[in-house]
Amino acid sequence: MTAQPPPSPHETASAPATVRVALLGCGTVGTQVVRLLRRHSAEIAARVGAPVELVGIAVRSLDADRGPDVPADLLTTDAEALVRRADVVVELIGGTTTARDLVLEAIAGGAGVVTANKALLATHGPQLYAAADAAGVDLLYEAAVAGAVPVVRGVRESLAGDRVMRVLGIVNGTTNFILDEMTTGGHDFDVVLARAQELGYAEADPTADVEGHDAAAKAAILASLAFHTRVSLGDVDCEGITGVTAADIEAAREAGGVIKLLAIAERVEAGSRESVAVRVNPVILPDGHPLAGVRGAYNAVVVEAEAAGRLMFYGAGAGGAPTASAVLGDLVAAARHRGQGGRAPAESAYAELPIAGPEHVTSRRQIRLAVEDRPGVLAHLATTFAEHGVSIETVRQQAGDDEAATLAVVTHDAPESALRATISALRETPGVRELLSAYRVERA
Ligand code: NDP
Ligand code: HSE
Repeated sequence: MTAQPPPSPHETASAPATVRVALLGCGTVGTQVVRLLRRHSAEIAARVGAPVELVGIAVRSLDADRGPDVPADLLTTDAEALVRRADVVVELIGGTTTARDLVLEAIAGGAGVVTANKALLATHGPQLYAAADAAGVDLLYEAAVAGAVPVVRGVRESLAGDRVMRVLGIVNGTTNFILDEMTTGGHDFDVVLARAQELGYAEADPTADVEGHDAAAKAAILASLAFHTRVSLGDVDCEGITGVTAADIEAAREAGGVIKLLAIAERVEAGSRESVAVRVNPVILPDGHPLAGVRGAYNAVVVEAEAAGRLMFYGAGAGGAPTASAVLGDLVAAARHRGQGGRAPAESAYAELPIAGPEHVTSRRQIRLAVEDRPGVLAHLATTFAEHGVSIETVRQQAGDDEAATLAVVTHDAPESALRATISALRETPGVRELLSAYRVERA
């Protein structure tokens, strides 16, 4: 049997019970949750149908300055005791160990849980969903994917009657901000990353952003929802943006496109079985693509569904206040369920689709090569492509100095295995001095 938290001290026969909320973490997002919860308490209570009381805020340090919106008397370092006093627990501490233990404890105690922690869900999701199911409580996570953008509900609920074929999106604000600033302002990677940290977009360890792991966690969550199957962080083929150079950005611009870090999840055939392939990598988007104009720390997710066609979800993907908006939306839902009963939709993983490796994906590439500028080199290159069954769509050559040239070859769609073999053979092809880059190219 599930242990319930003790009755609220405010509960009476006639008045609705006060919903007691525990906040775990009071950093970039938590501070904004406190501010908005206090500022709009009357409206939130009206929407929930009961008063909502913030009963405590767990942090690591009681001495840090958290601004005027955070009542010092609510701060505690005893997160476990706080969890036991709550009807709804909001987890905003990040990480996968303490956060997991506290969430499991909250669920076991019968509290609903709201979290923005994509790493937690992409790593321990099945254990947490199972625990929430067993306890009959909410586990809500709208803020975990694309900040303020309501894409989790959109995919999980609005598209529950459709068949999603493909999801592709810009789901990391930090990397989009960095690439955008490098593209439009010609700024240096490190300078822009520091600015993203100042603005509160980056993770506590920004490696998770720039190496693509944060986007991969979000991709795993979106893929699980879209395809009703289990996808975890380790299933995502992941490459970040640390290798993207100013020259790559310029070459993409010359080809009429921009480089964006995309998360792509799609149904593919692998060994004649329908499977799911999920990847995160920098991609060249032609300027006409709906995701090409997504600037700054904004996020956007395009969902292609059989009946609905192409949908796009767009908005602020990171930062304290936008993320707090999504957290509070979930908090209202979980608090409402406490008073009025019911539960948000649980995990749906019935499809049990296998995960396909990257070799089963088909895509186009723009392959840039530094070559010797002499007769026969193009013929050697064409032979290498042909030998691997990869068809060329366009070739652009730029003369350089020292009898050298840069070639940008865009292929037609080809299987990833053939593309990888071509790329490795090109390095050995006569006349090739260096393989400069090999980005995937999306169609508009
Ligand atoms: P911060 O690093 O700014 O804040 C983390 C907070 O958690 C701090 O207040 C910290 O306490 C507290 N904390 C850390 N460990 C513990 C612990 N063991 N016990 C108690 N408190 C602890 O993180 P963010 O607010 O940026 O992010 C929070 C979560 O939201 C993460 O999962 C993140 O991935 C997610 N998220 C963040 C977004 C953003 O734009 N920032 C957007 C969407 C999701 P102290 O202050 O004392 O150090
Ligand atoms: N670090 C994340 C980002 C926060 O930049 O998108 C939002 O999840």
